Amino acid sequence: MKIIDIAYSGNGVAKENGKVVFVPQTDIGEEVDVEIVKTTSKFDIGKISEIEKASPFRVIPPCPYYGKCGGCDFQHLTYERELELKRHILQNELKKINFSGEIDVEKSEKVYNYRNKIKLTYKNGELGYISNLTHDFVAVDSCMLAEKNILLALKVVREFLSKNHFQYLKNVAFRSYQNGVMIIFLFSQKEKFVYDEVLNSYPVVIAVGEILESDKTKVVKIYNNTDMKYRLMGEEFDIDAKSFLQVNKDMAEKLYKFVLNNIGEQVVINAYSGQGVLSKILSKKAKKVVGIEMQKSSHLIAEKIKSPNMLNVNAKVEDVIGKFATDVDAVVLDPAREGCKSEVLSEIIKANIKKIIYISCNFSTLVRDLKSLTKFYKIDKVKIFDMFPKTANLEVCLILEKF
Ligand SMILES: C[S@@+](CC[C@H](N)C(=O)[O-])C[C@H]1O[C@@H](n2cnc3c(N)ncnc32)[C@H](O)[C@@H]1O
Repeated sequence: MKIIDIAYSGNGVAKENGKVVFVPQTDIGEEVDVEIVKTTSKFDIGKISEIEKASPFRVIPPCPYYGKCGGCDFQHLTYERELELKRHILQNELKKINFSGEIDVEKSEKVYNYRNKIKLTYKNGELGYISNLTHDFVAVDSCMLAEKNILLALKVVREFLSKNHFQYLKNVAFRSYQNGVMIIFLFSQKEKFVYDEVLNSYPVVIAVGEILESDKTKVVKIYNNTDMKYRLMGEEFDIDAKSFLQVNKDMAEKLYKFVLNNIGEQVVINAYSGQGVLSKILSKKAKKVVGIEMQKSSHLIAEKIKSPNMLNVNAKVEDVIGKFATDVDAVVLDPAREGCKSEVLSEIIKANIKKIIYISCNFSTLVRDLKSLTKFYKIDKVKIFDMFPKTANLEVCLILEKF
């Protein structure tokens, strides 16, 4: 089969008898022999059995789990080629709203070992990832995307888990901060945690709940509690187990600088504001910043770093944006993968806010939201911030101006 395009999942696209076949770990222009591993009514999924004509951008994937754990999509290509493909993928998506303008790309300095957070699944006494390709559990003893200090902590946890078995342990997550790594054990229900000295050089958080970044999850105990701080663009703030934080620190700084450069000395709404870091950065230039965040733990961190011209609102954006939208010059939208509720967009349009800075990590909801917004706004700038190298995930920031 000839690979004719690349899908937003990062998989190559081929066609056989008119039916689409997705082939992971390929490049546009390659010719490959394919074994079909899954068939659905709309498409098939194939696996390379032989490469007949290889891309000149192919490299040997450095990770032994590549293609198995499902975390990475572009280890088989040079980084420059990966960025070209990411631009192409975004171009394809934005064609759906008739955008054919320029797309800028900010590359990451670190292509591996950039993640300040990883979350592993615990199964049968082992830690691993659930493959998004096969949904199988794949045990791993390392991960090339994680920061190196996290990998040292992972080694310690693996040793600990080889001696202690837990029935209700779901996940073990790692978050790095200024001077160390926090280890988080997430249990689906309460279970006795046997503390072991092997863990004593790390803060250890015991939480009970379904998902980690949720107000419903309860932190029940913290061992070796230290002052855990994170520093970003000269700002220092608390770090906790549950709040959202961009995973690639260097790229987060580049993204926030870009947002800062695109606002004036104005009144700004920072919707989906998380721990308030971006609000704090913007508050140095803007007249007033209103941050809106629904998660309590994130809101509390934002309250601690608040400057006098910052207002933090602990609510759902869709419930309160109408109240704060009058006399606002710009709004920053940085929603989770679900994108914005339609009420959020209609309130912004109704309030006649001149500029929207939309940060997205999910194409399908971005394109859905842009379909409404581009009736009233023109797209001025589009920039990819390569927050997640070697994976097909994309972080993109758009500047929209009212017609
Ligand atoms: C992608 S994160 C962005 C956080 C922040 N802008 C940053 O750069 O760290 C999305 C945030 O939106 C919050 N969130 C999700 N849905 C929300 C809603 N409907 N209303 C308010 N906040 C929401 C999440 O808790 C999370 O903190």
